[in-house]
Amino acid sequence: MGYPVNRMRRLRRSENLRKMVREVNVTVDDLICPLFVTHGLDVKLQVPSMPGVFHYSVDALVKEARELNDLGIPAVLLFGLPSGKDDFGTEAYSPDGIVQRAVRALKKAVPELVVITDVCLCEYTSHGHCGVIRNGDVSNDETLELIARTALTHAQAGADVVAPSDMMDGRVLAIRDTLDENGFPDVAIMSYSAKFASAFYGPFREAAGCAPQFGDRASYQMDPPNRREAMREIALDIEEGADVVMVKPALAYLDIVSDARAAFDVPIAAYSVSGEYSMVKAAAERGFIDECRVATEMLTCIKRAGADMIITYFARDFATWQAEV
Ligand code: PBG
Repeated sequence: MGYPVNRMRRLRRSENLRKMVREVNVTVDDLICPLFVTHGLDVKLQVPSMPGVFHYSVDALVKEARELNDLGIPAVLLFGLPSGKDDFGTEAYSPDGIVQRAVRALKKAVPELVVITDVCLCEYTSHGHCGVIRNGDVSNDETLELIARTALTHAQAGADVVAPSDMMDGRVLAIRDTLDENGFPDVAIMSYSAKFASAFYGPFREAAGCAPQFGDRASYQMDPPNRREAMREIALDIEEGADVVMVKPALAYLDIVSDARAAFDVPIAAYSVSGEYSMVKAAAERGFIDECRVATEMLTCIKRAGADMIITYFARDFATWQAEV
């Protein structure tokens, strides 16, 4: 039955009525904060393309993590900036690498904070690709061993969750086997399952110094138009042992999040990437949009699409805004 018996506006008449029928609320519990860690002491260096995002030395990172923990944010996702790069991304799997050091410090200082590590080689390779180069392309099977070794060193340092973002075929299985064989059956895998070759990663590549020095990532990351293929990627990762699957980017890919929610029962993470953040920051700086309202709306809609957790550079801002009201 329609109008005039049904009037949809009846339940929109006041903020309290709207609250009562609200289907989704984002809270800090849903958020994961990405953090960049670099060598040195007392370093806190802003990323020019990402206002409010910094490179932290381990000591400064610990301070930041304490504050995030106090704000109620349950987890951080770590990215490392190595002291040097080479063809094989050696520092990625060095037991004394920057991420491994950071994990040890964080688990010691703030043990309850969930530490997730990005597992990839691109920040560590001189060519900027996510794996080993053979004949001008990334060699899948040769890369698997290095990716698994990287994840193992993160687990040995104390990581709660490892998050492979390299998009090699078979990496989840390789990591699961390596972790289990070495006594880390309880370390979880959050797989960047449906990770698209996106231009929205632009600011991150500046932040992490990992732009490919030749070519692009189209031979390993997904082609943006492909929706059905994303479901295959996710299904394969679940079969290989992924505990959480991720869709990335988030905002322009909410159909993928929604499809994944309908098709799978595992927890789903959505990564609202650097470009999504920087666009809002830049537009807000120029007074074109209201940053708090736009960011909150973005996060709400990502959750509405079906994400159980959201990786966002707005995590700290959002927690601060929540604390203010
Ligand atoms: C590394 C990695 C990237 C991002 C997360 N992990 C960059 C890339 O794949 O080029 C992007 C994150 C962001 O844009 O916020 N493979």
